[in-house]
Amino acid sequence: MTRFTVNNQPVQYKMDPNTPLLWALRDASNLTGTKYGCGNGECGACTVDIDGEAVRACQRTIGAIEGSFVTTIEGLSRDRTHPAQMAFLAKNVPQCGFCIPGMIMATAALLKKNRNPSEDDIRASITNLCRCGIYPRLVETVLLAAS
Ligand code: FES
Repeated sequence: MTRFTVNNQPVQYKMDPNTPLLWALRDASNLTGTKYGCGNGECGACTVDIDGEAVRACQRTIGAIEGSFVTTIEGLSRDRTHPAQMAFLAKNVPQCGFCIPGMIMATAALLKKNRNPSEDDIRASITNLCRCGIYPRLVETVLLAAS
């Protein structure tokens, strides 16, 4: 039995502790906003927040995060829309939209650590991939979210 917290709710997964967090979230908790892209830790579509860090959920087993606090895109907004979400809406960023939850989670994690990131900080921190090529708008969007 693996126990941790997801979106402020205690969870217990009766799954193999080697199960990637991505699959526990999607299959056991029905939190399908966390996307499966590459499964190799490269694309960032599965990005969630674990104890304040942006983490690729396909690369972290549930056994490795016992006792941790996980936030997914579904839990990012509690009492109001997160500034990262507002900025993505304001800049009309999504094209196909598949990578956007991971991009927003990476943005939120960056802003938690650095309230005033430079363009270079943004490019270094948010390494998520987007097949639609939203990268120029992404930098503008993170700057807007930080303002
Ligand atoms: Fe996890 Fe691509 S699905 S990084």
